[in-house]
Amino acid sequence: MKVASWVATTLLASASLVVAHGEPDLKHEHAGDVFHYFRGGQCYDEGVINNGTPVGTTEQINGESLYLSYPRNGNQSVAILYLTDIFGNALVNNRLLADSLARAGYFVVMPDLFRGDPVPADALSGGSPGFNITTWRARHPQSQIEEVIQSAISTTRGQFGASRVGAVGYCFGGKYVARFLAPGRGLDAGFTAHPSATTADEWRAIAGPISVAFGDLDNSNTADNRTNIESIFQGGNKTYQTTLYANAEHGFAVRTNLTDRKKAFAQESAYFQAVRWFDAWMKDQI
Ligand SMILES: *[C@@H]1O[C@H](CO)[C@@H](O)[C@H](O)[C@H]1NC(C)=O
Ligand SMILES: *[C@@H]1O[C@H](CO)[C@@H](O)[C@H](O)[C@H]1NC(C)=O
Ligand SMILES: *[C@@H]1O[C@H](CO)[C@@H](O)[C@H](O)[C@H]1NC(C)=O
Ligand SMILES: *[C@@H]1O[C@H](CO)[C@@H](O)[C@H](O)[C@H]1NC(C)=O
Ligand SMILES: *[C@@H]1O[C@H](CO)[C@@H](O)[C@H](O)[C@H]1NC(C)=O
Repeated sequence: MKVASWVATTLLASASLVVAHGEPDLKHEHAGDVFHYFRGGQCYDEGVINNGTPVGTTEQINGESLYLSYPRNGNQSVAILYLTDIFGNALVNNRLLADSLARAGYFVVMPDLFRGDPVPADALSGGSPGFNITTWRARHPQSQIEEVIQSAISTTRGQFGASRVGAVGYCFGGKYVARFLAPGRGLDAGFTAHPSATTADEWRAIAGPISVAFGDLDNSNTADNRTNIESIFQGGNKTYQTTLYANAEHGFAVRTNLTDRKKAFAQESAYFQAVRWFDAWMKDQI
């Protein structure tokens, strides 16, 4: 099943997009496939089994909309805040991936970063003719995104009673994993895949452990960028892990062409990387 057709690169190339360097490169954005079954039978609990219907619930709390996915034992004391790409928490890929993280034993909280106004899944392939990414960006400044994240963190720690809060962030959301891993901002550990528009200062400021999955076809994380980020981690004595996947483009951990076996491998591996990272964090292994 496809959530939307693939991006028409010609359409995007002709659009008059003026995007600062490091902003999400829309040439590489597409809604992508929903996940295939990773494993069948009894092992399914351990895999990315996301070819179906999301099982979480959506709640309005303190004026923000949160998609919630619960671990089987219902324990909310360890939460993962899921910070999405530009397609937001309604995109089925994001919901299914949130469900997979919950299946791995975490209480997942995925706020609607764009307050009901995500980039429509078909916008980049011409399915939403009136859509303008420049005006969309202007409607969602960093200050608004941070307000939503702050609210979600305080709901998670307060109302939901979580005592440890990690975060995953994909594309757009990856930047905010870095920003909220700074001391006192509310996150304890983080994972990001193909983060967009991050700055050296954001990485320098992180306090908690960080795991990053890069793809070698992602123009928003060039070889120089990756080297730079790794040297910041190493020089700053951070607790970190980075991986680099071959033939993996921007967005691969959430939305890729799963009939391409290398891309499917990268997506599944990024999922396991996140789960193992948080498991290790829980066991004080990192
Ligand atoms: C929930 O999980 C935490 C962390 O693993 C654990 O300390 C706590 O005892 C669990 N609570 C219940 C009710 O099982
Ligand atoms: C999108 O909006 C911007 C700012 O209002 C405008 O300059 C630009 O021409 C619009 N782009 C398209 C393709 O309509
Ligand atoms: C990534 O590379 C670009 C181009 O050199 C640079 O402007 C940007 O600051 C880099 N970002 C990081 C986090 O290294
Ligand atoms: C680096 O951090 C570790 C703890 O993660 C600490 O034991 C070590 O002393 C630190 N090294 C430096 C040079 O600060
Ligand atoms: C997806 O990957 C398959 C296998 O590599 C390829 O045949 C197909 O053209 C790809 N689809 C798109 C839309 O790129």
